[in-house]
Amino acid sequence: MISKLFRRKSIAQLIEGTKGESALRKRLGPLDLTFIGIGATLGTGIFVLTGIEAAVSAGPSIIISFGMAGLVAAFAALSYAELASMVPVSGSAYTYSYATIGEFLAWMVGWNLILEYAVSLAAVASGWSAYVLGLWENIFKSPMLPEFLTNCPKLFGGTSGGGFDLMAGLIVIVMTSLLVTGVKESLRINNIMVVINLLMIVVFAVLASPHIDLKNWNPFFLSGQGFHGTITAASVVFFAYLGFDAVSTSSEEAKNPQRDLPLGIIASLVVCSLLYMLVSAILTGIVPVSELNTPEPVAFALQYIGYRFGSGLVAIGALFGLTCVIMTVLYGQTRIFFAMSRDGLIPSKLCRVGKRFGTPYIITWMTGILVAVIASLLPVQEIAQMSNIGTYFAFITTSIGVLVLRKIEPNLPRKFKCPLVWLVATLAILMCAYFMTQLSVLTLIRFVVWSAIGILIYFFYGIKKSKLNQ
Ligand code: ALA
Repeated sequence: MISKLFRRKSIAQLIEGTKGESALRKRLGPLDLTFIGIGATLGTGIFVLTGIEAAVSAGPSIIISFGMAGLVAAFAALSYAELASMVPVSGSAYTYSYATIGEFLAWMVGWNLILEYAVSLAAVASGWSAYVLGLWENIFKSPMLPEFLTNCPKLFGGTSGGGFDLMAGLIVIVMTSLLVTGVKESLRINNIMVVINLLMIVVFAVLASPHIDLKNWNPFFLSGQGFHGTITAASVVFFAYLGFDAVSTSSEEAKNPQRDLPLGIIASLVVCSLLYMLVSAILTGIVPVSELNTPEPVAFALQYIGYRFGSGLVAIGALFGLTCVIMTVLYGQTRIFFAMSRDGLIPSKLCRVGKRFGTPYIITWMTGILVAVIASLLPVQEIAQMSNIGTYFAFITTSIGVLVLRKIEPNLPRKFKCPLVWLVATLAILMCAYFMTQLSVLTLIRFVVWSAIGILIYFFYGIKKSKLNQ
């Protein structure tokens, strides 16, 4: 029994498993991969959390919070890049754990990645819905939908008029249908939206920079919170960095994964980190932080300094940004499920690949419908912190995995090697563990309950059905 928990799949076995009926088409190039990373990363983090966390926790020191979170993400990203260059197989941290620390922990990583992806997706979809409804009301001066179609039911924490959040569910279903009909085609749309999103961030920077008033950075830390507030904010804005791991879920569909995945992971992380710090510096430099506790701080800041048209442009950029996150994170989630299903840990019928479009249509629809239901019925903003904890767990196991593989398979070819791996991976592990402790007690309890459910499913299903039994 114990030996089953620690059984591993060799890299050769993993690669062998990608052939045959469930083979995916290899069509993605380095730009597609980098844009998956940027698309999945620049959303709520840059357009919402920059302002809100500055207002409630960090003050202008939110710049440091983003820097700290980015550093931890970068340490983990280097481990991801090394493993991605060695294991060109779908599933990201789940698959890496299967190759390094064994089936049980791999299942737990996959189980928690489901949480990370589903919760962050649902949270972004409900933010998307709020953005569209707000934009409509601003332009047409009347509500777009009756109240019962804009909010989750009261039973689950919505307002008294709440029924379900129609737009949140709808955007997830639209993105799901695009992904089913072709990954390359969907990512072409993603690439265009990423460019628009980046352009709007540049518009913001160009319009706002001349209005920076250094007085707004004094005091630099929020009064009453001090540096502790900076750290609390860092553990929350980590949400902004969820996304670059979506690059590694696309391994199997990349034309040249060994070269392009490390490139895509690192390039997207560097671009996003620089933009986060830039936007938070400008935002807190032009508006007193007490004013930034609004759902649209970036657009609001431009209005504050008198650019109504610029503010509208940025709001539209934000909408594109959130749409990219929904498409690419959904894509990532389907590939994690896909890998788990191919390994037999969830029903293996689900990973069937359609002949016409070459996509895993059953698992894609299943994921899309599940997320659409969560997004339209649950008060996801309240549980968004849950996605961070799933990510910390995945980053920790990936960083452990890279060390394990250096020990047990020192001679395997590595197209990309994490520099100073023992230092970098250990720092990633320690800092992720520390950030985990900064989340609320309720989040930690929810994490334990979710993990306990995962353990039960593994012992009642996965351990018996695993393909490694054959
Ligand atoms: N990183 C993604 C966002 O900020 C999840 O929206």
